[in-house]
Amino acid sequence: MNTLSTQSHLFASLTAYLQDLQESGLDGIPAEMVTMKEANTAPQLTAIAKQSIEGAMTDQLNTPEIHETLEQIRKNLGPCQRCKLGATRKNLVFGTGNPKARLVFVGEGPGADEDAQGEPFVGDAGKMLNRIIAAMELKREDVYICNVVKCRPPQNRPPESDEVSACSPFLLRQLQSVKPEVIVALGTSAAQALLQIKTPISKMRGKFHDFHGMPLMPTYHPSYLLRSGGNSDSFWSVWDDMTQVLQLLKLPVPIKNRSK
Ligand code: URA
Repeated sequence: MNTLSTQSHLFASLTAYLQDLQESGLDGIPAEMVTMKEANTAPQLTAIAKQSIEGAMTDQLNTPEIHETLEQIRKNLGPCQRCKLGATRKNLVFGTGNPKARLVFVGEGPGADEDAQGEPFVGDAGKMLNRIIAAMELKREDVYICNVVKCRPPQNRPPESDEVSACSPFLLRQLQSVKPEVIVALGTSAAQALLQIKTPISKMRGKFHDFHGMPLMPTYHPSYLLRSGGNSDSFWSVWDDMTQVLQLLKLPVPIKNRSK
């Protein structure tokens, strides 16, 4: 990760952490920090705080016996109002599927159907995702499905950067809890948010990228396939990407007939 993306990750994690502390009743900051502030050592404080947070995060992530369950993360999220999407959502859409899935799909954010039902990918895009999963000879219950943001952006617009920053520490924790062997990022927003790069999806897809030690395959969003047709070039590009995913998982690759 580059310095900027590390800083924005840290900032988002620190914000979420401080909000959690506040929600759990903390109403002050430790005395040694106040002393340092009074001594006008703000840059030092920033560096020390950054170091200790980084250290704590690294320790936590590198300690195999510490494993957060999805239930714990959901509980910690609570009736979330960490970003402006909290005010307009009907239901928070946390994620669904196998908590020990070998494969996780990450979408952009809930649409109207998902907002109404509290479950990801249950509308038309969800039906297309179900077709992809079935074509891989997997079941929806085998995989885990979630989104970059957990609340519906108004008019289904892409999530904004402050919304992604507020939600991404929880997504990271979910992915570290499930610890899949492969993550598939569905569409531009998901791939760009997870990888913290601005590359177009057409340039990112087709190869594995690293996400916190987990292989991540970006591919086109199911809604894009709905628009481009069930036998389009983009449909077969997704199938090529899923073929690589199945191969990495050492699962059989079903033969498909590409004739138009
Ligand atoms: N599109 C997404 O990205 N996620 C959903 O859950 C539904 C539609």
